[in-house]
Amino acid sequence: MRYYIGLMSGTSLDAVDAALVCFNDKRCELQQHLALPIADDLRQQALSLLNPGNNELARLCRLDVQLGRLFAQAVQALLMQADLDSSMISAIGSHGQTLRHYPDSDFPTSLQIGDPNIIAEQTGITTVADFRRRDMAAGGQGAPLVPAFHQAMLQDNRYNRAIVNIGGIANITVLANDPDKPVIGFDTGPGNALLDSWTQQQLQQTHDKGGKWAARGICHAALLDNLLKDPYFRQTPPKSTGRETFNLRWLEKSLQHFPGLHAQDIQATLVELTAITIAQAILEYSPDTDQVLICGGGSHNTFLMQRLALHLPEQTIQSTHSAGIDPDWVEAMAFAWLAKQTMDGQTGNLASVTGAQHPLILGGIYPATTQLEPHPHATHV
Ligand SMILES: Nc1ncnc2c1ncn2[C@@H]1O[C@H](COP(=O)(O)OP(=O)(O)O)[C@@H](O)[C@H]1O
Ligand SMILES: [Mg+2]
Repeated sequence: MRYYIGLMSGTSLDAVDAALVCFNDKRCELQQHLALPIADDLRQQALSLLNPGNNELARLCRLDVQLGRLFAQAVQALLMQADLDSSMISAIGSHGQTLRHYPDSDFPTSLQIGDPNIIAEQTGITTVADFRRRDMAAGGQGAPLVPAFHQAMLQDNRYNRAIVNIGGIANITVLANDPDKPVIGFDTGPGNALLDSWTQQQLQQTHDKGGKWAARGICHAALLDNLLKDPYFRQTPPKSTGRETFNLRWLEKSLQHFPGLHAQDIQATLVELTAITIAQAILEYSPDTDQVLICGGGSHNTFLMQRLALHLPEQTIQSTHSAGIDPDWVEAMAFAWLAKQTMDGQTGNLASVTGAQHPLILGGIYPATTQLEPHPHATHV
């Protein structure tokens, strides 16, 4: 049995998710998983580097190494938990921590850090990383990348499905029951990142558990309208976004027009913004949806789920559990799968989603010293 490990550290900056996965036929089984918390000082360093500031390069280099070590540590803890030797693992797929995502710039690029050289060296496992930039080099958004995995695992000939991943940013994948129809997928806008930032600022808590705080607030209609005016929501896909767009400064620009609002009402408005932008994406791009399958940490926000259900009265809303995949591990599993695709010489992006000129083998390979197989046509001198 050969295993793959997926490492995901999303825009929420809550934890490093590590998933041990094995693939057989078209199925993918989650064997073990763990979430290694990101210490406060590391999270603060990453957050401060998300925005321009002093001596960024030196701070970037340092964080790149610190995160590389943390990712290696997550793999080692996962192997220990699974009681497996590193030689059993074919490859690690490491997403890395996104610090910048500039898909629509004249110089499109995306920066994920957490040095894969360190991961490969410390674990002794071949590591695939930097998945986004090859897609961008071919004219794509470099994001979202999970739709190809969603298609491989969750496409069903009986149902039109919409998969909604609510991480720091939310993204949707439209999977028609006809497998020949091109997959649609894009970032809908903010997921948990704004909710978390506002909660952190107002309550000094990492997140609003279950959305309980928001649930006691009242959505402010004019503020909501103002937030919804952001051109991103009207842009047609392919499109992707990040924390450099949807952050507290973005919120504060709108709040200037509405002085004196209660913090709790602002949180309720942000939940409504998240629910409405996801619902609108589904109604516009997947009006025939039978099943909406939710994954990501946002699936635990009960209030957000209630608001989403209210805006999608015709659809069944369930967690990806109902289709056999644990909602908390979909993204980490996706990066295990993406690593497998790359190692197998298979493409990982969907051109219909990212807008790239063609499908591509994604990522850079950082070989474990003892594992690199010689090329079959290599000549020995
Ligand atoms: N019980 C909960 N109630 C509300 N929100 C939650 C809960 N559990 C997780 N979350 C949210 O999910 C986020 C983590 O989601 P995740 O899918 O890991 O995102 P990312 O991929 O950006 O790291 C947390 O920061 C938090 O906002
Ligand atoms: Mg996370």
